[in-house]
Amino acid sequence: MIKCDIKDKSLAPRGKLRIEWADNQMPVLKLIRERFIKEKPLKGIKMSCCLHITTETANLARTLKDGGADVVLCASNPLSTQDDVAASLVVDYGIPVFAIKGEDRDTYYKHLISAIMHEPVITMDDGADLVGLLHKDYSQTHLRNVIGGTEETTTGVIRLKSMEKDKALRFPIIAVNESDTKHLFDNRYGTGQSTVDGLLRATNILICGKVFVVAGYGWCGKGVAMRAKGMGADVVVTEVDPIRALEAAMDGFRVMKLEQVMPYADIVITVTGNLNVVDEKHLKLAKNGCIIANSGHFNDEINIAALEKLSLSKRTVRDFVVEYTLSNSKKIFLLADGRLLNLSAAEGHPAIVMDMSFANQALGAEYMVKNAKNMENKVYVIPKEIDMEIARLKLNSMNIAIDDLTDEQIKYLSSWQSGT
Ligand SMILES: NC(=O)c1ccc[n+]([C@@H]2O[C@H](COP(=O)([O-])OP(=O)(O)OC[C@H]3O[C@@H](n4cnc5c(N)ncnc54)[C@H](O)[C@@H]3O)[C@@H](O)[C@H]2O)c1
Repeated sequence: MIKCDIKDKSLAPRGKLRIEWADNQMPVLKLIRERFIKEKPLKGIKMSCCLHITTETANLARTLKDGGADVVLCASNPLSTQDDVAASLVVDYGIPVFAIKGEDRDTYYKHLISAIMHEPVITMDDGADLVGLLHKDYSQTHLRNVIGGTEETTTGVIRLKSMEKDKALRFPIIAVNESDTKHLFDNRYGTGQSTVDGLLRATNILICGKVFVVAGYGWCGKGVAMRAKGMGADVVVTEVDPIRALEAAMDGFRVMKLEQVMPYADIVITVTGNLNVVDEKHLKLAKNGCIIANSGHFNDEINIAALEKLSLSKRTVRDFVVEYTLSNSKKIFLLADGRLLNLSAAEGHPAIVMDMSFANQALGAEYMVKNAKNMENKVYVIPKEIDMEIARLKLNSMNIAIDDLTDEQIKYLSSWQSGT
């Protein structure tokens, strides 16, 4: 019997109802679960999953368990755990969890270690903290059992690719983030909507008419900018990549340097996966009352140490809102300690997009069990057929039919002699 570490088991009934609510909006994962129940493709496979402990993750964990896996979960972020979900997973579904919302750094790492002590054969990560720790401190012991892993997010994939480049990676990884059925929908529509949701829940501000800066016009940034524009904000994009900046400009957004727009910005959201994007020089230029938040993976996109240094005082004025009073007497409001706003102050992505992301995770784990022995210690993209099949199942669940290529069209498309 594994000793879990969660906040309070009595929260389980509420968590169970919320898990079921999400499940109703995850038809693709449900189909996979039904097949897994019959076929048991993960039979006896120990899995350690380091993911945001949300209702959608609970349905993924159930699917893996129903597929025969011996699963444990730990959090991939100290603020994203939904304690009622953690409780229900333990009480109702018999899945061990190590995660408490608001846990400090030591507890966060203690929980990662608990997941490593499970001796996983397959890892499932969101941000590569689990795989990183396995390689750093457990390479001679627990890493030996691992045949492969999957990775959920952009930042994790970047870290793992750099491990691959340095020849440090010791098992193959499927980069779920790179599937079209993941980043086109989860990063764009999921992060877009849920970041605005987190902003509203934390502050209850009116968005229309505000100068709303989105730093980073990648998949997540496009979604945040699109939704902010839809709510009537005056959206400004900042970028470092000329192609993405051009794309933002042609999508109808003003593109500026961050230091140019700071004196006018009412809201600044970072979604870059990069370090100190809002740095000391930007904080000094901030408009009085500026709200700053992050929806990128780590809490280092905003230079919080510099904000602390520039401030005379700080106080918590609402849940997830800290007011900093700077020595220039301006106020800056930092949301959710600079951690993922959508998962800290709101509930993360809606289940309907996580359905596809987690279908990729479940099928990625199955693929790994079948194919790991033939794979190198590299970061792989999920095979195109799996990605297409997930899209097909999702369309079916939405009652959307599409046309089929005719034989004549297939021939036409595959022949270099076609055309005039
Ligand atoms: N909040 C969530 O639930 C959620 C979901 C998915 C991904 N993420 C995370 O969000 C981050 C972004 O993911 P993505 O898929 O959009 O990545 P992406 O690579 O598609 O986009 C990141 C963009 O940021 C730009 N950028 C980098 N440094 C910058 C800087 N200093 N100033 C302005 N722009 C800069 C890059 O040029 C790029 O266009 C990652 O950390 C990812 O892991 C969060």
